[in-house]
Amino acid sequence: MTTTEISSLLQEHRRFDPPGPFAARAHVKSEAEYRAMAARAEADPDAFWAEQARALAWSHPWTKVCDWDPPDARWFVGGKLNVAVNCLDRHLGGARANQAAILFEGEPGDVRVLTYRMLHREVCRFANALLSLGVRAGDFVAIYLPMVPEAAIAMLACARIGAPHTVVFGGFSAEALADRLKDSRARVVITADGGWRRGQVVPLKASVDRALGMPDVDSVQHVVVVRRTNNEISMRPGRDHFWDDLVAAASPVHEARGHDSEHPLFSLYTSGTTGKPKGILHTTGGYLVGAAYTTRMVFDLRDGDVFWCTADIGWVTGHSYVVYGPLASGATILMYEGAPNQPGPDRFWEMVARWGVTILYTAPTAIRAFMRWGDEWPAKHDLSSLRLLGSVGEPINPEAWMWYRKVIGGDRCPIVDTWWQTETGSIMISPLPGATSTKPGSATRPLPGIAADVVRKDGTPCGPDEGGFLVVRRPWPSMLRTIFGDHERYVKTYFSEIAGCYFAGDGARKDADGYFWIMGRVDDVINVSGHRLSTMEVESALVSHPKVAEAAVVGRPDDLKGQAIVAFVTPRSGAAAGDALAAELRAHVAEQIGALARPEEIRFAEALPKTRSGKIMRRLLREVASGAQTRGDTTTLEDQAVLEKLAQSFATDE
Ligand code: PRX
Repeated sequence: MTTTEISSLLQEHRRFDPPGPFAARAHVKSEAEYRAMAARAEADPDAFWAEQARALAWSHPWTKVCDWDPPDARWFVGGKLNVAVNCLDRHLGGARANQAAILFEGEPGDVRVLTYRMLHREVCRFANALLSLGVRAGDFVAIYLPMVPEAAIAMLACARIGAPHTVVFGGFSAEALADRLKDSRARVVITADGGWRRGQVVPLKASVDRALGMPDVDSVQHVVVVRRTNNEISMRPGRDHFWDDLVAAASPVHEARGHDSEHPLFSLYTSGTTGKPKGILHTTGGYLVGAAYTTRMVFDLRDGDVFWCTADIGWVTGHSYVVYGPLASGATILMYEGAPNQPGPDRFWEMVARWGVTILYTAPTAIRAFMRWGDEWPAKHDLSSLRLLGSVGEPINPEAWMWYRKVIGGDRCPIVDTWWQTETGSIMISPLPGATSTKPGSATRPLPGIAADVVRKDGTPCGPDEGGFLVVRRPWPSMLRTIFGDHERYVKTYFSEIAGCYFAGDGARKDADGYFWIMGRVDDVINVSGHRLSTMEVESALVSHPKVAEAAVVGRPDDLKGQAIVAFVTPRSGAAAGDALAAELRAHVAEQIGALARPEEIRFAEALPKTRSGKIMRRLLREVASGAQTRGDTTTLEDQAVLEKLAQSFATDE
């Protein structure tokens, strides 16, 4: 965030009360109701969470709500439940059986509708198919699919049989997939021949083949392939199976059993401060309680809603608010495979009108792109079905917030700006749309039950408008349980920075009304278009190129993407710095991680500025990259000339 943006946030005084007709029908109808609920949760957290958990179907009751042995939590101890039963079987008894669960639209315009009954049959069939491949409870299954119904079916089938899934975003490269397969030791990979993106085929199966040929990727025994794009692929007999063939041979009947509340449900890899992505592990009972509770409260779900969360299932938002939260709540979800501007910039608005979407949940980066494309695109379509708008993934600037409210929401729909993380599993800070007055750019206050705060380094609470660290003081059901295979890193990353608290890695301030303003990451994580990347990860990719001696990566504020990646690179001697090398390096990073990590800009330097102890001075590079005046203490610089040269080269190249 730039200084001007921060000061504009500090001066933000606009307030929007929940619209009367919305509040009248909402689950939580007023500020007083919100306060009463939050106070109840504060006074007796266990009773509060037990009440939320009772909204789900348990096959065996828990004996203890929360076992907190800091920093280790177990929730609904001794309880058993099946996530797929909660998302499917539970809805089959009455009229909901024939209600649409998934409305799917592919990028080319093909459409599929699956009712709860149909989805249940498909999930049971695929659960049996997985069993026929020898998958057992506890075995990891990797899912590398486009946004097609099979993605949700595969996740639910895994949950049904107790095989934790690890979904890998289809935009990640073969190398990134290989890293995740090695770390999770997945036995099966579920993929597709390809997916559609801007009219092109993304060749997923070819990436799987490459990943499986890489050193130490040796756990995968079977690959299941969904036919989607009908491009040419190679199939290895014995290892590779078409989805259709497996499912045709499988029974649609599967008796699900309850899994222990603390049985792993999934791991999802996300970037931290080191080069190696970490597998965030979530478990069955607590996660589903969190996902279901927040979906109901934050999106104020009711019968007849068509809920469109535009996130890909490769991210946690797709887990909690495309699949688990909405389906556990019996909602109808819309799932879309492709790009928001294919074939034109009004694809989303045309779909909102045609499907009658009532709740739209998307990212600020998308909102800013829509703003840039112009108001004429949404204006062409009837958006009157919308009743609630949501935002997630990065701070939303007040200007984008106001545009979203006016142009998309017709000044009628409340906006929920939701703060949370892969680690938190579900939304933590957000308005309740029928109860909370909103301020553009603020995620407002923690949900009832969530003990979030802003503190100083020593753990003492910050005063009003004093910037500090965002923390959570008490455990919550959908919190991560560990980093898969590295519990020490879990303790160190989240519970060692601030004594006695979960440390989120974000900076924030609370205003005099207790509203939270999230300022962004305080670590070396950058947020590009709502996608989380570590600077180290991109640096490792760069230095793996034979022509690179050293690299430092920083984020620079970007009007559209939030942050853009700028890489400072020292080439090896003999390698010529220039456009050709920059292009080669950008392609190399895309190959190592995925297109989302490709640096926006590469700057060559003879040397990088370092402290006397040899640490790269990122703060300086960040300032150079964003063109800001260099300030602060630079006396520890190894070579001041290096910095001056960098700053100069930046100025002359602009
Ligand atoms: O910096 C915060 C930002 O996204 C980070 C979490 O990223 P990830 O685990 O990929 O999950 C994204 C979707 C939940 C946070 O540490 N972030 C997320 N939501 C917001 C946000 N920053 C400001 N406002 C938000 N509403």
